[in-house]
Amino acid sequence: MRNDATFFIKTFGCQMNVWDSENIRDLLLSHSLSEVSRPEEADMIFVNTCSVRDHAEKRALGWIRELDATKKRNDGLIVGAMGCFAQRLGRDILSVLPNVDFVIGTDAYERFDAILERLKAGERQIIDTGPEKGFRSSPRPGRKRLRAFVSIMKGCENFCSYCVVPYVRGRERSRPLADIIEEAECLVEHGTKDITLLGQNVNSYRFGELDFAGLLNEISRITGLLRLRFTTSHPKGLSPEILDSMSSCPTVCEHLHLPAQSGSNNILKLMNRGYTREQYMDLAERVRSRIPGISITTDLMVGFPGESESDFEETLDLVNRVGFDSSFAFKYSPRPGTAASNLVETVSTQEKERRLDVLLKLQKRIADEKNKGLTGKILEVLPEGRAKGADGFLTGRTRSNKTVLFEGKDDEIGKPVMVEILDARGLTLYGKRQGGGNGGSPTCG
Ligand code: 5AD
Ligand code: SF4
Repeated sequence: MRNDATFFIKTFGCQMNVWDSENIRDLLLSHSLSEVSRPEEADMIFVNTCSVRDHAEKRALGWIRELDATKKRNDGLIVGAMGCFAQRLGRDILSVLPNVDFVIGTDAYERFDAILERLKAGERQIIDTGPEKGFRSSPRPGRKRLRAFVSIMKGCENFCSYCVVPYVRGRERSRPLADIIEEAECLVEHGTKDITLLGQNVNSYRFGELDFAGLLNEISRITGLLRLRFTTSHPKGLSPEILDSMSSCPTVCEHLHLPAQSGSNNILKLMNRGYTREQYMDLAERVRSRIPGISITTDLMVGFPGESESDFEETLDLVNRVGFDSSFAFKYSPRPGTAASNLVETVSTQEKERRLDVLLKLQKRIADEKNKGLTGKILEVLPEGRAKGADGFLTGRTRSNKTVLFEGKDDEIGKPVMVEILDARGLTLYGKRQGGGNGGSPTCG
């Protein structure tokens, strides 16, 4: 492998994977490798895999298999698998994907430097899925990012019965405060205005005496940081103290991702979620009354073993009552080693698809209504760049994480502006900057 080789990274899965990919990218750039935008141009391809659902695993697998043809044409091409699927299978991945040159597990990224040296020396079939020594502090940032992720904890100990994460990502580990602050300050110095704290369950953050509520207070003091968000919060651990920090720190945004998974108490129990539908709805109401204008988003699952038509209707009812701003909905798929994988599946694939379709249609109707309801409101928007296919328009986000298009100029990017919302089409809002511009929707569809 040349010293000035090129690389391409393909990322599947959650924001944690996005953060890991960004760190690997920074590291490769610091080794004078350069990034290319198409896999065919790369000397080295990283595939960051996801294991959370069967579908996600299959997509990553299919993607790596498709590289076989490229590998045949280009002998020197190096293909590596990283992420949860790589961690879950370890060396066994070579029996499924014999053409992979290295496998690096989710806790081994701190040793990536050494793996790179071994690859440069011509070694292949390198496997490292061993444990990490400490929560690595990441090298940061070569390039400007308006929005960035900062990981604050890893692992999960909730053992929801369907979830593979506790088996793959391991026990909960919280990152030292000083490391988090150092990374966040460095990002802000380089132009980041909006930070999302990441963890499988951020509510459980604990470093010495410091809990998640305290951590929010600490980070929100960073000068120059405009917006602070976090994901994911388990409804069970969203304490009154966290709500206090959310409502008292002006930096913390009015957005909460609060996975409900189901609206049926029978199913929530089988899922080992640790709350009832009543407790969830009560929490959502408390959140809304403490933080006016907050948008609440969620994850939902259909077709869990034993989910009857009336259980499903309870999920629809919960979605209606809470009125989520948006949701991610999934068909249940059994994951190896989880408690639910021992349950007999009772919902056919076809029925799962039907339920998913009904759920998505309901969610779309609610989201459309909510967004239409924002017409006439004046919201703070952080412009992120030019809107694609709409000349003269910028795209940005509100504090509640909604996308807004409005007429603006390049020099406004990165500076928050107040925008009057004039229209909503699907998930996109259209507005007019206060104090200038003609406003309205771009003429593109
Ligand atoms: N099947 C389907 N969806 C799942 N999720 C997690 N495990 C499974 C599974 N086995 C969904 C949950 C979770 C999101 C990240 O993925 O909704 O919140
Ligand atoms: Fe999985 Fe539950 Fe942990 Fe989320 S809280 S990562 S769903 S076990």
